[in-house]
Amino acid sequence: MKAIILAGGLSSGLVPLTINTPKPLLPIGNYPLILFQVNQLKKAGIKEIILSLSYQPRLIEEILKDGSNFGLILRYHVEATPLGTAGAFKVAEHLIDDTTLVLNGDVLSEMAFEVCLDTHRKRRGLVTIATCSVANPRSYGAVEVDQEGRVIGFVERPRGKAVRNNTINAGVYVLEPEVLQWIPRDRPFFFEKDLFPVLLERRVPFFARAVGEYWREITRPYSYLQSNMDFLDKRVSIPQFHGYQKENHPPGNPEVVVDDASLFDEQCMIKPGAQIVHSVIGSNCRIEEGAIVRNSVLWPGCRIQRNAFVSGSILGRGCTIGEGSLVYAGNILGDKSSLTSYCRT
Ligand code: GDD
Repeated sequence: MKAIILAGGLSSGLVPLTINTPKPLLPIGNYPLILFQVNQLKKAGIKEIILSLSYQPRLIEEILKDGSNFGLILRYHVEATPLGTAGAFKVAEHLIDDTTLVLNGDVLSEMAFEVCLDTHRKRRGLVTIATCSVANPRSYGAVEVDQEGRVIGFVERPRGKAVRNNTINAGVYVLEPEVLQWIPRDRPFFFEKDLFPVLLERRVPFFARAVGEYWREITRPYSYLQSNMDFLDKRVSIPQFHGYQKENHPPGNPEVVVDDASLFDEQCMIKPGAQIVHSVIGSNCRIEEGAIVRNSVLWPGCRIQRNAFVSGSILGRGCTIGEGSLVYAGNILGDKSSLTSYCRT
C-alpha cells in the first residue's frame, strides 16, 4: 500500500527557521520531522511513500534518498508551483491504483494510521479522515460527524456559529482512487475547501475516525518549540531506523549541571559551571562557563558565551550569544544570528 506525504507548503509561518531548512527537516529531538512520519507509516504497513514537495526538495532527497535505508520505496514529486493538497494527490494519479493514505507533512503525532485504515475498510469508505480534539478549532478544519461516524459537515477555519464542537481534521486521509475524478488537473485544488464539499454534496461514503493519541501541528515557532519539549517529555516515539538513530552525548564533566531530560547531539563542548535544563542541543554546540540554557532548542554549531542565559527560545544553526546576554522566552533566531555581549532580548 502507498502513502503520500504532503510537504509542498512554503512554511512561511516558521520563518526564519525555514529559510534554509524545509519544514520536513526541522529537527525534533535532533531527528528530522519527516523521519517520525516515515516511521509511523512503516509501522502501519506502508511499503511505498510518495513525497510531494515544492520548497527546497533537494535537501530532503539528499537525506532520505531512495528509501532503501528504511526498508521502503520513496518517490519524489516536485511541483514547480504548489497545486494545493488535493492537486498534489492528482498529479500522482499515474502511481495510484489502490487505497492510499495521504497525510499533511507538518504534523507530529502518535496516531496509529492502521486504525484509520481499518475503519475505512470495515465501513467501505470512499474517504475516511482522522479527527482529533483541540481546545480551539478555529485554525483548523472543523468536522461534524453523525452517530454512525459519517462526516456530515466540514468547515475550514470556522468562525461564529460554524464552530459546533472541538473535533478537527487531523490531516490524515484514506482515499480510494475513485475520488480522483473530482479533482481537476490544471489548477490548484484543496481537499479541505474544494473536495470535501463535493463529497458531502454527493453523499458518498465519507467517514471519520477519531484518534486520541498525541497530536501536534507544527506551523509556528511556538508549536515547533513545544514539539521538542514533548519529545523530551517522551510523548513521541523515537524513529527506529538503523543508521539514523541519534545517540545522546551528555557531558561527562561533573561540574556541568544537566537534567535527565536534555539531549545532546555529537561533539558538543559544555564548559564547567554551565547549566542545561530541558533543552535540545544540536551537534557541535559550545556552551561556555556559567551559561544557562533552559527549555530551548539549539541547532548545530551554536555558541553560548560565558554567563549568557537562554530560556524558552529557538536558535538556528551557528548562532552566537555573547557573554552575559539574556535571551528570554519566545526568541526565535535565524541561522547565524549573533548577539554581542550583555544584550537583553
Ligand atoms: N505538495 C503540496 N502542494 N503540499 C502542500 C500544498 C501544495 O500546494 N499546500 C499545502 N501543502 C502541505 C503543507 O506543506 C502541509 O504539510 C500540509 O499540506 C497542510 O497544509 P497547510 O497549508 O499547512 O494547511 P493548514 O495547516 O493550514 O490546515 C490543514 O491542516 C490541519 C491539521 O493540521 C487543513 O488540512 C486543516 O483542515 C487541518 O485541520
